[in-house]
Amino acid sequence: MDFFEVVRARRSVRKYGPDPVGRDVLKKIVAAGIEAPSGANMQLRQYVIVDDPAVMERIRPVSPALTGAPAAIVLLVEPKPTRFGEFWIQDASAAMQNMLLAAVALGCAACWVEGAIRRCEDDLRELLAVPDHLRVWSLMPVGLPAESPPRPSKSAPDEVTHYNRFASGR
Ligand SMILES: Cc1cc2nc3c(=O)[nH]c(=O)nc-3n(C[C@H](O)[C@H](O)[C@H](O)COP(=O)(O)O)c2cc1C
Repeated sequence: MDFFEVVRARRSVRKYGPDPVGRDVLKKIVAAGIEAPSGANMQLRQYVIVDDPAVMERIRPVSPALTGAPAAIVLLVEPKPTRFGEFWIQDASAAMQNMLLAAVALGCAACWVEGAIRRCEDDLRELLAVPDHLRVWSLMPVGLPAESPPRPSKSAPDEVTHYNRFASGR
């Protein structure tokens, strides 16, 4: 798929079919996350691939977005400042977006699950044996889609794009 087709085709999918996703595919998705930029190139991110059905069943209650998903990638991040300031949230977000696009390019679907993590971070930490210095920041279910969500309303480019100064050029 052309890059812009991938960007356009990506949707937050919250229902998956039972077909498993191979580790080769999951590792490629993680590799895309690793390629993402990070503040001062600190790369404070770690990735937990969950593909054991028993572990998937334990993390499924985190969010309805995991419905049926055969696998998930959990993104951990060390909330540590760089010498230029704090960028760990942006670092985690950049990795997440790269991984979402990679999943689509590889024929899978995914969803950025982050809001739902906040209320069960400690449970996930224990379940996945995450050390104390890392935050369990977000996760993405990965699988073949069992739904095709419509494209939600997005800004029209002309409404949010400015040339050279705000609101100029319209
Ligand atoms: C920071 C962030 C946190 C999100 N957290 C969740 C979440 O916890 N659960 C969920 O189902 N979707 C979550 N989403 C997905 C958004 O709901 C989704 O991107 C939005 O509705 C637009 O739909 P689209 O991704 O199909 O364009 C999150 C997205 C972002 C960027």
